[in-house]
Amino acid sequence: MLNLLLADAEIELIPRELFHHPSVKANAKRRGKPPAEILLDSTIHHSALRKLTEGERRGRPDLVHFYLLLALESIMNKRGLLKTYIHTRNDEFITVNPSTRIPKNYNRFVGLMESLLLRGSVPPDGDPLLQLHRGYDLKKCLEELHASKVMALSEEGTRVCLDEHFSGTSGDALCIIGGFPKGDFKSDLYVVDEIISISEEHLTVWTVTSEVLVNYENSVLG
Ligand SMILES: C[S@@+](CC[C@H](N)C(=O)[O-])C[C@H]1O[C@@H](n2cnc3c(N)ncnc32)[C@H](O)[C@@H]1O
Repeated sequence: MLNLLLADAEIELIPRELFHHPSVKANAKRRGKPPAEILLDSTIHHSALRKLTEGERRGRPDLVHFYLLLALESIMNKRGLLKTYIHTRNDEFITVNPSTRIPKNYNRFVGLMESLLLRGSVPPDGDPLLQLHRGYDLKKCLEELHASKVMALSEEGTRVCLDEHFSGTSGDALCIIGGFPKGDFKSDLYVVDEIISISEEHLTVWTVTSEVLVNYENSVLG
C-alpha cells in the first residue's frame, strides 16, 4: 500500500487582512459570496497577494486539483493500493475516500474545496468523501498514518532511482510531496525517515506525483 501526502499545500480561504482589497471585493461581488467563503487564488488575487506574508507562494488550489486528479484516477487507486491525503499550510489534514470523483472542471473543484474548508466535510451529511481535520501539523499527520517508511521528496534530498528505491521498500510506504510552487517545506522534515530527490531538475507537483505513482505501481505490480 502506498500513502501519498501533499504537504504544506497552498490552499486556504481568503484571509481576513485581504477582505477589503479591491481585487477580492470585485471577485466576491462577481461570485455573490462573502470573501470569507472564497478560495484564495493567485491567478485572481495576485495584486492582493503582494500584501500578504509569503504571498509569492500562496493561493495555489490548482496544485491540489492536479494532485487529486492524478492520484484518484491512477491504476494504483483503481486497484485499491493507494491512500491519498492532503496537509495544508494552516495545519488542516484532509482525508480522501478513494472512490471520490474529483470534478475535472476547475471552477467546480473550487466550489467543492470552499465547501470542505467551511463545513469540514463533503458532502456535509452522510458518509464523507473528503473530510477535514483541524490542528494537524505534519508530525500529527504522520502519527495518524502509521507508515513503515516515510519519504519526503525534495530537490535537496539524496538522489535515488525511484523504481529501485521502491523495490527495496517493504510494508506501507508514505511519500510526501510539497504542495507549493516555490521555496521549501514550511513543515519541519525531521519527522521523516529520508529525504529523496528524483532528478537534478526542479519539477512540478504533478510531474513528481505521476513519477511516484507510476514507479510504485511498477515496483509492486511488475
Ligand atoms: C514545485 S516544487 C516546490 C518548489 C521548488 N522547491 C522550487 O523552489 O522550485 C513542489 C514539490 O515537488 C517535489 N519536487 C520537485 N522537484 C523535485 C526533485 N527533483 N526531486 C524530488 N522532489 C521534487 C518536492 O516535493 C517539492 O516540494
